[in-house]
Amino acid sequence: MTTRKRLVVLTGAGISAESGIRTFRDMGGLWEEYDVMEVASIDGWKKNPQLVLEFYNQRRRQLLTVEPNAAHKVLAEVQNLFNVFVITQNVDNLHERAGSKNILHLHGELTKARSTGNPSRIIDIGYNDIKWGDTVDGYQLRPHIVWFGEEVPMMNEAAKLVQTAEIFAVIGTSLNVYPAAGLLDHAPKGCPIYLVDPNDINIWRRDVTVIKEKASVGVPKLIEMIKNE
Ligand code: OAD
Repeated sequence: MTTRKRLVVLTGAGISAESGIRTFRDMGGLWEEYDVMEVASIDGWKKNPQLVLEFYNQRRRQLLTVEPNAAHKVLAEVQNLFNVFVITQNVDNLHERAGSKNILHLHGELTKARSTGNPSRIIDIGYNDIKWGDTVDGYQLRPHIVWFGEEVPMMNEAAKLVQTAEIFAVIGTSLNVYPAAGLLDHAPKGCPIYLVDPNDINIWRRDVTVIKEKASVGVPKLIEMIKNE
């Protein structure tokens, strides 16, 4: 009996683009329409929490209307071939809905809220809005999202996962945001690294095989390439 190899993937907004969710930094991306510091930072929250709530309420409502695409589905299907670990910067739930089992959300999840008074008090809210005045244990609820200016609590766990990778793939992220982008440096020496993205990405490691395709095409290609590794 052969043991399944550990395939660790780091995904970003690009993997959900073909499901109809806008990326952040592409042309027409969310940060063209919104000021990131107004809607996705801890300072923005302190300044205008209603605006921040509305931004994430819109994202959550949209999530109800979209479906996982071929890339999410292929990553779920290959769980019978590989021991797959998904580290995602995305706050959508499309990896879950496609059937992936091991998913670590680095930047939080839209379908959860947490107490502003107690960060470990996290509740499932599904696709419901969070309104100003909605509380748990007397504290205002906020989106369960890691904002700019905040720690990334899952970072150590994510780094450890990447360190155990036998194959590492980066899919649909501009690698602009740290500490997440730094995960690339945690891939062990000799571990094959792949990058799937239709655009040119500034990568600082030389040992990366680039698959310059959209995720729906590039992820099946990636699997073909690694199936016999
Ligand atoms: P970006 O918007 O920075 O990058 C999206 C990447 O997806 C780009 O490299 C695109 O070329 C690529 N892309 C576009 N369409 C694609 C497709 N069909 N298939 C594959 N790739 C495609 O998004 P992220 O790198 O995920 O954080 O951004 C990282 C973080 O910045 C997000 O988690 C979010 C954002 O601000 C917070 O809000 C805290």
